[in-house]
Amino acid sequence: MGGEIMIRVLFVCLGNICRSPMAEAVFRQKVKEAELSGQIQVDSAGTGDWHIGKPPHEGTRNLLQERGIASEGIRARQVTLTDLAQHDYIIAMDTQNLKDLERLAEETRSGGLFRLLEFVPDSKLRDVPDPYFTGNFEEVYELVDAACDSLLRHLRDKELL
Ligand code: 4NP
Repeated sequence: MGGEIMIRVLFVCLGNICRSPMAEAVFRQKVKEAELSGQIQVDSAGTGDWHIGKPPHEGTRNLLQERGIASEGIRARQVTLTDLAQHDYIIAMDTQNLKDLERLAEETRSGGLFRLLEFVPDSKLRDVPDPYFTGNFEEVYELVDAACDSLLRHLRDKELL
């Protein structure tokens, strides 16, 4: 196995307490199970600054804990220009997050910007609904789980991992 390739993935939502930390934890677990932790680095950030330093929302923490998915140590932070330059795959949870990232990316050379559900071609939804407002963390998990499977397949194919 070639240890020299490192793909850097950053999930981005608004607050970095509900959706993107869930995606970070779920994807990190899949990467670990695929024995690709040495080749794929996973992180998350928010476009907003309200929750900097906080652990994920209780709804996200409970859901992950019930499924045995580790989320210890994840703390909210705001996305930076350095993040855009240093990550290969910057994956927004919804169209507004993507717009905000595109505006920020005008100021720097950036890795590829995507919407998470682009990786689920048959998805009926374009955006991952925000459970901070809907309260439905289960729905978010189903979408994130399917998209992360698909993203991992995409990285294996595209990056020859
Ligand atoms: P997230 O959810 O973007 O999935 O982390 C939100 C969390 C907090 C707020 C909005 C969305 N907020 O307005 O504080």
